[in-house]
Amino acid sequence: MVCLGNICRSPIAEGILRQKVKDQGLNIETDSAGTSSFHIGEAPDRRMRATAKQNGVDIDDLRARQFVPADFDRFDIIYAMDQSNYNNILSLAESEVEISKVKMILNEIQPGANQAVPDPYYGGDEGFQHVFDLLDEATDVIIEKYG
Ligand code: 4NP
Repeated sequence: MVCLGNICRSPIAEGILRQKVKDQGLNIETDSAGTSSFHIGEAPDRRMRATAKQNGVDIDDLRARQFVPADFDRFDIIYAMDQSNYNNILSLAESEVEISKVKMILNEIQPGANQAVPDPYYGGDEGFQHVFDLLDEATDVIIEKYG
């Protein structure tokens, strides 16, 4: 799961998926990263942590890191939260195989639409619940497909 800062969208995507994987006893490795170095080492945004808790998901233990080219080897699927993240990840890809691993996460619920998970960082609290709901739906599809 990849966004810009790795403190709002991608950690909640990781947290929701991680919980579903655990609850269902599946063997799927989950992780998240940011394309930027802005927030390396930081916990998720407190508003995102609060929204997570209100929805029964705990992401307090997660820490931001930057996406690195080695992630192309470690993971089978790399989900970008928006078009900018997608383009930034692709700019690091070095083969067709690596390129093919990168997907827009909301295409799991609206195939081909290339919709973005809106960045809630500069908005109000309601933006965080909206992000949660979108990623809850997308991760349900991911579990159905790959679980
Ligand atoms: P995220 O949100 O990409 O969902 O983690 C952001 C967090 C921080 C910044 C931008 C987006 N920032 O510019 O610091």
